[in-house]
Amino acid sequence: MKTLVVLLSGEGSNLQALIDACLQGRLSARIAAVFSNRADARGLQRAADAGIDALFLSPADYPSREAFDQALMNQIDRYQPDGVILAGYMRILSAGVVRHYFGRMLNIHPSLLPLYPGLHTHRQALANADGEHGTSVHFVTEQLDGGPVILQARVPIFDDDTEDSLAERVKTQEHAIYPLVVNWLTEGRLRLIDDTAWLDGNPLPLPGYA
Ligand code: GAR
Repeated sequence: MKTLVVLLSGEGSNLQALIDACLQGRLSARIAAVFSNRADARGLQRAADAGIDALFLSPADYPSREAFDQALMNQIDRYQPDGVILAGYMRILSAGVVRHYFGRMLNIHPSLLPLYPGLHTHRQALANADGEHGTSVHFVTEQLDGGPVILQARVPIFDDDTEDSLAERVKTQEHAIYPLVVNWLTEGRLRLIDDTAWLDGNPLPLPGYA
């Protein structure tokens, strides 16, 4: 059984989707630990409720981003994870961490990358009067929200949408695609070679997907 560590900063609905997928056998992995950089992250409670080690690491206790990330990495590596899964982790990771987990760190970002890296993606999609929006699962590389995309899901934008209604529609899709992609990782079907993602020996994105 493959071991996963999840990093998050907030609500943890994507963590919940991963926990549920494990329980239902759609994801063959064990989530060994969940780390948050925020003490009040609801995701920590979700982890504890599921019997998963739930750990808060405070950035305020470290003199620099690198020092914090080194401590985080040391903690994560105690679990010897096969995959490190970012699920709403809202802190930029330093290059050393990204390199250390090359090919085994995934992120989910609420936009159709390469559109809207960074923050406030729903607000930007609405401000630009886009007809559609979505979410992307990608390998984490040193380029912020710029690693190769593995799978995307699209949603329509309606005239009466607010940031909240759009975020909720996007999250529903995230909960469907993230466990699927994480399962591909744990089954050894995904590879990151240089700056290209591969699934079952085929370069991504697959036609008809992303
Ligand atoms: C998700 O929509 C995820 O895509 C986004 O944060 C939300 C976390 O929700 N991630 C980012 O914006 C990362 N740049 P959750 O805590 O309910 O899973």
